[in-house]
Amino acid sequence: MSIITTATTKGGAGKTTVAQMIIGAVHDLGYSIGVIDTDENQTLSNWLSNNSNMAIDCRVVLDDSKVVEEAQMMNRKHDLVIIDTPGAQSQSTVFAIGCADLVIVPLQLSKADLMQAQKTYRLVQSTGSISGRNIPARLLFTDYTPKTKIAKKVRQQVAGYGLPVFNTRLHHLVAYKELTFSGKIPKKGRAGAQGQLLVQEIADMGILPFMQEYRHAS
Ligand SMILES: Nc1ncnc2c1ncn2[C@@H]1O[C@H](COP(=O)(O)OP(=O)(O)OP(=O)(O)O)[C@@H](O)[C@H]1O
Ligand SMILES: [Mg+2]
Repeated sequence: MSIITTATTKGGAGKTTVAQMIIGAVHDLGYSIGVIDTDENQTLSNWLSNNSNMAIDCRVVLDDSKVVEEAQMMNRKHDLVIIDTPGAQSQSTVFAIGCADLVIVPLQLSKADLMQAQKTYRLVQSTGSISGRNIPARLLFTDYTPKTKIAKKVRQQVAGYGLPVFNTRLHHLVAYKELTFSGKIPKKGRAGAQGQLLVQEIADMGILPFMQEYRHAS
């Protein structure tokens, strides 16, 4: 029903973590999820099959030309499809962006993250132009340290560039690292709350039509 792609050309920015948190929160609400892993490291698919206790329909798609076809096929079967992309610009990233209803661009508090997030946002806009549609995209702060000078600086630069950004931020928390081993998505504590707030904010954008009841009354 909806396709969400996590993408940035910067490696290690939090793409897979964001995908894991969304999968966990949406799965908890009882909706069906399909996952497409286009990263040859297969971090997300390995995690789903080795660690996670969630039964998720997941496919690794390393043939660029098959990304859109697989995503559309998954989209017919599931409420939500998440596409995780590699940490560098690739054709598969462009295809994963091109078929998305929302592109989430994670960034941490560094210049390289900011530059690559900006570049990825432009990539989303260009891909949208080719296909003649507006592809919604938002930046998402990950590994975020609130009340620091660097946080303020990067936030100001994001605003200065006019880049849309989620209000929800995934703070620098050990729970996000622990889930890579435990396979358990945090449901409580700050990480659990941030995951739920993120899904709430996505639902409020109208990206998850199957979750109407989850939307804030506007
Ligand atoms: N909010 C956070 N707090 C603490 N650690 C985090 C947070 N977000 C991500 N990490 C950690 O940072 C590392 C990189 O995150 P992740 O694998 O999600 O990035 P990625 O963009 O998918 O990387 P790649 O480009 O290699 O695919 C991981 O070890 C992850 O556990
Ligand atoms: Mg990854």
